[in-house]
Amino acid sequence: MTADTATSIAFEPAQRIRAIGVSEILRITDHANALKRAGRPVIVLGAGEPDFDTPQNVRDAAVQAIGRGDTRYTVLDGSPAMKAAVQLKFRRDNALDFALDEISVSAGAKQVIFNALMASLDPGDEVILPAPYWTSYADIVQICGGVPVPVAGTEANGFRLDAAQLEAAITPRTRWLFLNSPSNPSGAAYSADQLKPLCEVLLRHPRVWVLADDIYEHILYDGLAFATPVAVEPRLRERTLTVNGVSKAYAMTGWRVGYGAGPRALIAAMAVVQSQTTSCPSSISQAAAIEALTGPQDIVAQRCADFQARRDFVVAALNRAPGLHCRVPEGAFYTFASCAGVLGRRTRGGMLLQTDSDFCRYLLQDFEVAVVPGSVFGLAPYFRISYATSMAQLEEACKRIQAACEALE
Ligand SMILES: Cc1ncc(COP(=O)(O)O)c(C=O)c1O
Repeated sequence: MTADTATSIAFEPAQRIRAIGVSEILRITDHANALKRAGRPVIVLGAGEPDFDTPQNVRDAAVQAIGRGDTRYTVLDGSPAMKAAVQLKFRRDNALDFALDEISVSAGAKQVIFNALMASLDPGDEVILPAPYWTSYADIVQICGGVPVPVAGTEANGFRLDAAQLEAAITPRTRWLFLNSPSNPSGAAYSADQLKPLCEVLLRHPRVWVLADDIYEHILYDGLAFATPVAVEPRLRERTLTVNGVSKAYAMTGWRVGYGAGPRALIAAMAVVQSQTTSCPSSISQAAAIEALTGPQDIVAQRCADFQARRDFVVAALNRAPGLHCRVPEGAFYTFASCAGVLGRRTRGGMLLQTDSDFCRYLLQDFEVAVVPGSVFGLAPYFRISYATSMAQLEEACKRIQAACEALE
């Protein structure tokens, strides 16, 4: 059959997603899980989700919602009760007051971010991403026609963006600055004093909006006080979207509920995007999220204490491995360690380690530990460990990483 007479031609993806693959983190995790299924004792430290269960009161609330028949579409961007729960959360945790029409609820914080960019970016608009950054930011920006502008952080500065870097990165095309504290992948967090100089730069650039991704707010260690830009500088309120969700704080990744609060006009534009994508977040999941946000909160601090013990263990273990160096992250459940000291060395199998990806491949192939290279997050040579897994698994994984570094020639 010639091309002219063929009944179909090969699928061609649309221009807007051609340069974007499925998340590299998912790819590594899938590969590691396939090895596990094949019987290899692989430890996967890739996933960004708590290993805890969703609290019982939250699960019960969902069951009750089904029993009550809360099974229909809700208001497009969140039921009134759900928005009231978000309103309460912002008052209680952040001393911020938002009206219900300044709040948008979606199927996860990821959809909140997607809606915001879809609703605001024109082709060529720039989004400043302090690196290392959550990989999805860059991909969402590109899908929405924007241009990601990574600004590399340094370990010396705790992987935090500083005011001079921000000033230098702003151009007439800059539409958004993303701030994510505590950060995925670095675990770095900004105090109010560290946010202030950034806010001052932003006040000089009224066209630049701020997306504050606060999803790891409740996983912050050593008694540090959480800070978010609008609370630090109320004059930024008219151009800030504060994003949060229940996935990480309440171990609810599969329920898919996230929310954002910001200026009415933006929230209304985001509702237009949502109306033609998911219509509304799941009614059952909203009932569960209401209970998570308004019910007893003690579990949040308990889990944070558990994560802190794991962080302390992993950081100490990594710093004992020859060639690795790990700063102490302030929050989230990730370590972001440098592997600069192992590059240029050879494995016993003769492979020369030239990049952080090589090192991660070596850890998986020869020592059966799956971690994610820093280059995926826009900063090399590092690797990210998610320590949202049991202490027993972490102990074994760290032993293997130590052995892998000691085995290098
Ligand atoms: C920084 C950051 N923001 C947002 C999300 C998305 O969370 P959700 O499950 O609410 O979509 C994640 C999940 O990994 C994340 O790491």
